[in-house]
Parts: sequence; structure tokens; C-alpha cells
Amino acid sequence: MKLATALIVDDNADLAENLCEILATIPGYSIRTLTAANAAEARAHCLELHAKLDVAFVDLHLPDADGLELVQEIQRSCQHCEVLIITGDATVESAARAVRHGAFAYVTKPFAPADLVQTTSAALARALLVREREALRFELEESERRHRELVEAVPAFVLALDAEGRIALWNQQLEAATGRARGEMLGLPGRDLVGQGGDRKLELPGGGHRLVRWQLAELPGGSGAVTYALGMDVTEERSMMRRTLRAERLAAVGTLAAGLAHEVRNPLNSASLQLQVLRRRIDKGNVAPEALLPVIAIVDDEIRRLGRLVNDFLAFARPSPMSVNAAPLDELVGSVVVQLEPEVAAEGCALTLDLLAPVRVDVDTERLRQVLLNLVRNAIEASSGGGTIVIRTRPADEEGFASVEIEDDGPGIPEDAPVFDAFYTTKTSGTGLGLAIVHRIIEEHGGTVGFESRPGRTCFSIRLPQTTT
Ligand SMILES: Nc1ncnc2c1ncn2[C@@H]1O[C@H](COP(=O)(O)OP(=O)(O)OP(=O)(O)O)[C@@H](O)[C@H]1O
Ligand SMILES: [Mg+2]
Repeated sequence: MKLATALIVDDNADLAENLCEILATIPGYSIRTLTAANAAEARAHCLELHAKLDVAFVDLHLPDADGLELVQEIQRSCQHCEVLIITGDATVESAARAVRHGAFAYVTKPFAPADLVQTTSAALARALLVREREALRFELEESERRHRELVEAVPAFVLALDAEGRIALWNQQLEAATGRARGEMLGLPGRDLVGQGGDRKLELPGGGHRLVRWQLAELPGGSGAVTYALGMDVTEERSMMRRTLRAERLAAVGTLAAGLAHEVRNPLNSASLQLQVLRRRIDKGNVAPEALLPVIAIVDDEIRRLGRLVNDFLAFARPSPMSVNAAPLDELVGSVVVQLEPEVAAEGCALTLDLLAPVRVDVDTERLRQVLLNLVRNAIEASSGGGTIVIRTRPADEEGFASVEIEDDGPGIPEDAPVFDAFYTTKTSGTGLGLAIVHRIIEEHGGTVGFESRPGRTCFSIRLPQTTT
């Protein structure tokens, strides 16, 4: 049931009532009917109803005004209203004129109810259609306005390109940043401004540029795909990142230098002390050369330790370019274990080897050897005095990573110990670079290294991408 409002303007009360009754019978509509006995009352209703009035019946003979004028007034003040003229024989001419000037139709007195119902239905259908169309147009305008406001208010660059890559939208932020007005830009080729998305330079009118991070969305449009581009100015963010990175790098260099100086000082002090001992003995004269040998041996050891420190440090701080080959993982692990057998034996440990990965991995062999040496040496040092070490390889997991596990039954690693930090060591003769080097090398290979530890069991595992070809 559609709701509608009708106004009957006629000084003949009986006729108006008769009309009301007929309107009540129109199928599909629930009509609220108002009546006016003259033009003044009609005007008052119109003023109140405005766009809510759907249909008006106007007698051309009114006591206080010319009916034709009233018709025009109603049409002006009630936008969607359809006007039907009520006419007797005497006024048919004027009624026809009114219809020529926009009234919907005229109905002659006395009313034939069926005709009246039909004509009124048609008028109402048209009035409601126009009203619906108006409402839709209004909604569309509102939604367009909201989108326009959004595009302008959003603190980002908004750009649209048509199917030919020409600029179809250029928001205020872009106008402000580039100093180029929308009118100037619309229709110009714009693909270069946004590329395929990502970071791009946006040239500024007075020279220089801003760095803009573009995100693109391609949507099907009426005449080909439209590309919408949303750009964020990341110039400040980028330069802040660069500054932070530089500061972090400087801080890291400082920490490294301090660590290195600390590590160098011990062997240097020790060597210099031993040299003083040597000098004192020589000054006293009559020294048997054999008595000097242990002192020389200590100096020699310290110098070797310094040499190792420098080598380790360089391996960590300035890695040389990698030379990657597809190498058989099990063989590589096996050969490192063979190399370490004397050390294992010297510490009285047992070593079990479980080679379960007959696969190849893309590695710089020398560096991977270094990784394995560092890890197995740590395990030997942790389980010295009769512990057991297990070394296991595993073929690729579902992510394509083969792995090596080095497990020992030593004391374990305390929680939160920064074992991968350079110079972190709990050993009197350690440099604390072993695991830092492991971490660096495994990262360079696109792999991962981690460990699990509790007293009595520590297991380091490295994962490396398995060769796919
Ligand atoms: N398997 C392990 N069991 C217990 N602690 C370990 C183990 N591996 C490493 N750690 C701890 O991590 C620290 C750092 O190890 P890292 O290999 O980096 O240096 P380091 O062994 O002390 O010295 P370097 O390897 O340079 O001779 C060790 O000092 C030790 O405290
Ligand atoms: Mg070590």
C-alpha cells in the first residue's frame, strides 16, 4: 500500500466529499485527503505540505481567485504534485489550456467514478515516480558530495587515471604539494607519477621532490579500467629512518670497538707482563735458556689469541663476498666432525652422528664449515669431561629448509643470555664472537638459527634453504 496525499480545492462541499469517497476506493493507495473551499485555504495547505503533496484537484471557478493562477502556484510550491482540473462544461476550454500548461488532466463534473479512479491512479503513479527519482537523485548527489569531501579531506594524495592513463582526479593535497591546479592536470598523462605503486619521487614546482608511497587499486570503469592511487608523503619518515639507522650503526660500531678493545687488552697485558719477566731474568744474567722457554710460550699463546681475535672479528665485522654452491649437507657435516674428532677425544666426550639429510643446500662451504665448527666447539666446551654430543641432519621441512641440530648435555644456557651478541662470553679464553659469526653467516644464507636449552640439554639448530634445482 503506497501512501499519498491529495488536496481538493472546490467550494462545492458535496462535490468535494463525493470526490473524497471516490479517492478512498483507489486500489493500491492509502490516500490522505485534504479539502479547501477557496484559494486562500489551498495556499495554506500548500505552504504546509510542500513536496509532500502528490495530487491536487482544482476547480477553475473559485470564490476568491482565478483557478488557473492557483494551478500554477501549486505547481511552483509543491514540486512533485500533479494537478487535475475539475471542470464543468462551461470551463472545458480553460481546463484544456491548463493541461497544455502542465496540469496532468481534467475531470468533468459530474464524476464518472471509474474514469476518475483511473486518471487519479495515473497521476499518483507519475507523482510518486518523480518523487522517487528526486529522492534517488538527492541520494546520489549526497553520496557524490561525501566522496568528494573524503577525497579532499583525507590527508593523502589521491589521484585517478582513466583507461588511457590520463589524470581523471587530482585532489587538493596534490594541488597544495605540487602547486599545480586540478584544471591544469586533468587529462594529462599521469602513469609516470605513480608507476606500479611503491615509493616514487614527486617533483616540486620550485625544484626538489617529495618521496611518496603510492598504493594502487585498479577498478573496472564504464570506459575501461580506472586506476585509483593513494599516496602518502614518506619523505620525513624515510629521512628519520636513515638518521636512526645511522645512529644505530654508530652505536653498534662503538659497542663493537669497546668489546674489541677489551678483548685485546687482556692478551696484550699478559704478553707485556711476560716480557717484563723475561727482561728481569735477562737483566739478572746467568739465565738458562730453558728457563725462558715457558715465558716465551705464554707470549706466543697470547699473540696467537690476538691473531684469532682479529680473524674472528674480521669474519664478523667485514664479511667477504660469498661464493655459493649446491653442497651435500651430510658430507659437509661429516667432514667437520672428522676435523673435530681430536678435540672431542681430548675433552673425553662422546659424539653421535645422525646423518638423515642426503640433500644439497646452497651455501658458501667455507662459511658453513665455520658455522658448524663454532657450534660443535661450543658443544664440546659445554660437555667437557665426559658429556655426549649428538649431531643430526634433517631433510627439508614443508617450507623447504633442511636443518642441522647440535645437541649437548652440558649445563645449559641461562634464560635471556645474549649469546648471539658480539663479545658475550662466559669463558675465560673465549672471544664471544663464535655465535655472532654463526648468526651473521646463517642470515646471509637466508636461513635461521635458534636454540633450546635447559640444564642437561642444549640444542642449537640451523635451517638452510635446500637446493631446488
Ligand atoms: N652449547 C652451549 N652450552 C652452554 N652455553 C653455551 C653453549 N653455546 C654457547 N654458550 C654460551 O654462549 C656464550 C657465547 O658463545 P660464543 O660461541 O659466541 O662465544 P664463546 O664460545 O664464549 O667464545 P668463542 O666462541 O669466541 O671462543 C658462551 O660463552 C656460553 O656462555
Ligand atoms: Mg664459542
